[in-house]
Amino acid sequence: MKRIIIAIDGFSSCGKSTMAKALARNIGYLYFDSGAMYRAVALYCMQNSLITDGEIDTEALRGKMKDIHITFEADPETKNSITFLNGVNVEHSIRSLEVSRYVSNVAALDFVRSEMVEQQREMGKQKGIVMDGRDIGTTVFPDAEMKVFVTASAEVRAKRRYDELSARGDNPNFNEILENVLQRDHIDQTRDVSPLKKADDAILLDNSNLTREEQMEWLIDTYKKLTTEC
Ligand code: DC
Repeated sequence: MKRIIIAIDGFSSCGKSTMAKALARNIGYLYFDSGAMYRAVALYCMQNSLITDGEIDTEALRGKMKDIHITFEADPETKNSITFLNGVNVEHSIRSLEVSRYVSNVAALDFVRSEMVEQQREMGKQKGIVMDGRDIGTTVFPDAEMKVFVTASAEVRAKRRYDELSARGDNPNFNEILENVLQRDHIDQTRDVSPLKKADDAILLDNSNLTREEQMEWLIDTYKKLTTEC
């Protein structure tokens, strides 16, 4: 069977990563979380005093881009992908609400995007990958053979994020999360460079009322149909 590129884009907290990871595992593909790369850059800014009073020092960050190395490794036990920033495992810290607060602004910077897109295209050279993000089907891999655009209501997404943070022992505030989800939607959709939008040839998946099992069945059916066609 031909190995393809699967691009999964959509709004924040739609469960894209969970679905992309599960799909990759199911069909024996490698999974790449492009959002983790933008999160790692935001964490780098926080750790290196490049944010003052909520403002990112854009020029200083531009000068530091060559010092930011993001890599992924599979967890030997769970096989889940782990994000490393300059050799340090940052998988847990990049998911904090503080990183979430800054990441959309970091991801809106053209020089950050061009560097990340270059690295993402390199990852896709091998084919047989599932990558999730916001611009994977539109900018990173416009020729991806399978493109899915995922959406769900803001409340459903905030509730999922709330449950995720609670499960890992944080003490989240639902309204704060909902506000963050709405704010990120706005920044992601209105930024100048690669704004979040559905590619014309992407298939729309609204998962507000789907179970994970139903969603996985749909994804695998779609993948099988496409790989037998091409
Ligand atoms: O998917 P996520 O919530 O981890 O993404 C974090 C942020 O990065 C989000 O605000 C949108 C941005 N992002 C992006 O602009 N382009 C991508 N390909 C992936 C994420």
